[in-house]
Amino acid sequence: MKKSFLYVAVLIFILLAACGAPASTNTGGGAAAVPAEYAGQTNPLGAEAAAEGAKVFRVNCVACHGEQGHGDGPAGAALSPAPKNLAELQTTVADDYLYWRIRTGSPGTAMAPWQGILTDEQIWQVVAFIRTLK
Ligand code: HEC
Repeated sequence: MKKSFLYVAVLIFILLAACGAPASTNTGGGAAAVPAEYAGQTNPLGAEAAAEGAKVFRVNCVACHGEQGHGDGPAGAALSPAPKNLAELQTTVADDYLYWRIRTGSPGTAMAPWQGILTDEQIWQVVAFIRTLK
C-alpha cells in the first residue's frame, strides 16, 4: 500500500514537471509568450528552405497576407483583426514564435492552426520564407 502511494506520488511529480513552468522566452514587441514546448526552437532546415517556403506561402497564405506578406491579401481585406504584416512582425519575433503561431493559429481570429494541413517541415519552410520578407 505504502509503495503504491509512493509510486503515484512520483508519477504525479513527473507529470507536473513535464507540463513545465510557464515559458519565459521573449518574443519582443509585446507579443504573447511562446509556450514552453515551442520556446527556443530554431529552424532545423536553415535559410535555404525559403525557396520551398515561398511555394507553401503562395498556395496557403497569400490570399490573406498578400504576395509580400504585408497583410494586404484580397481575402484579408474584410477581416478583423486584419492579417498581420509578416514582414514587420518577423523583425520583432524569433523562429519559435512564428513556428508556434503558424502551427497552432491565433485563437479568436481568422488565423487558423496549420498543423495537420501543413507538415512540420512545410511550416519550417514557410518560416524560412517569412524571414526573407521586407
Ligand atoms: C483566412 C486568412 C488567413 C490565412 C489564409 C492565413 N492567415 Fe495568418 N493571419 C491571419 C490573421 C487575421 C492574422 C492576425 C491574427 C492576430 O491579429 O492575432 C494572422 C496572423 C498571422 C501570424 C502572426 C500571428 C501573431 O499572433 O502574431 C503569422 C505568423 C501568420 N499569420 C502566418 C500565416 C501563414 C504562414 C499562413 C499560411 C500557411 C497564414 N498565416 C495564412 C489570417 C490568415
